[in-house]
Amino acid sequence: MKKVTGLTLLASAVLFAMSGEEVFKTKCASCHSPYYIPQSKLNINYQHNNKDLNLSAPTLTELSFRLKDQVGDRTTDAEGQKFEIEEWLVTFLKEPSSNKKSILKQETRKVFGKMPPVEVSEAEAEALADFMYDYAEKMMIEHGVKRYSYKEALKKAKAEGKIVLIEGYIPFCRGCIWMDRNVMVEPEVKAALNKDFVLVKMNLLVEKLPLGMKRLGTPSFYFIDAKNEKVIDMLEGTGTVEEFLSLLESIKKRV
Ligand code: HEC
Repeated sequence: MKKVTGLTLLASAVLFAMSGEEVFKTKCASCHSPYYIPQSKLNINYQHNNKDLNLSAPTLTELSFRLKDQVGDRTTDAEGQKFEIEEWLVTFLKEPSSNKKSILKQETRKVFGKMPPVEVSEAEAEALADFMYDYAEKMMIEHGVKRYSYKEALKKAKAEGKIVLIEGYIPFCRGCIWMDRNVMVEPEVKAALNKDFVLVKMNLLVEKLPLGMKRLGTPSFYFIDAKNEKVIDMLEGTGTVEEFLSLLESIKKRV
C-alpha cells in the first residue's frame, strides 16, 4: 500500500477546494448576472431607472468592484481584504435587510428592491469572497486592451511603428480602477490604443519604470517613442473618454 504523505494530502485538499464560481452560479447568478456590461451602459441604465437593461440585481462585476472598494481595508494585502469580505458576506447574506450601509452607490441601490437571505456555509462564503474579489480585475483584462511586459511592448512597438504606453498604477488606487473601468475598456479607446499604441500595465509599488523615469502619482501614463527609446511625455490623473482620446491624438503628433 502507498504511504499517504503530507504532500499528497495537500494536493487533494487543493483539488477539492470549493469553487467560488460554482457556489456563485448555484446561489447568486439567478439574480446577479456574471455577464460583463460596460460601466458606461450601466450608468445610463441607472439614470433610466433600470428600464434599458431591466436587471434583477447589480451585476457580478459591479459587486466585485464595490466589495473591494467598500468592505475592509483596501490598502492591506489581497488575502487580508478577502478575509474581511468573507466575514462581511456571512453577516450580510444571513439578513440582507439589516444591512445598514449599502456598499452600492445610491443611484444603483435605489433602482433595486431588497435581497432575500441566502444560506451559505463558512466554506462557501470563503470561496465566494475569493471568487468575487478577483472577478472585476479578470473582466478588465478580458475586455480591455491586451497588456504586454515592457520588453515585449518595446519589441512590438518597434516592429509595428507604434508608441509604448505604460499605465502606472498601485493596487488600491481608486483613480486607477476608475480609469480601467470607465475609460480603458470603452470601444473608441480600445480602437485608438490598438491602432497606434502598445500597452504596459506597471504596478509602481513593485516595478521600476524604464529609461530612468521617476514615478508620478497614480494613475499615470508614460508615453515612449519606441524607435528612439525616448520619453515623449508623462502625465498623472484621470480623464474622461474624450479627454483621454485627445491626449492620445496629441501624443501621436509629437513623434
Ligand atoms: C433573488 C435574487 C438575489 C439572489 C439569489 C442574490 N441576490 Fe444579492 N442582491 C439582490 C438585490 C435585488 C440586491 C440589491 C439590493 C441590496 O443591495 O440589498 C442585491 C445586493 C447584493 C449585494 C450588495 C449589498 C449592498 O450593500 O447593497 C451583495 C454583496 C450581494 N447582493 C451578494 C449576493 C451573493 C454573494 C449572493 C449569493 C450567495 C446573492 N447576492 C444572491 C438580489 C439577489
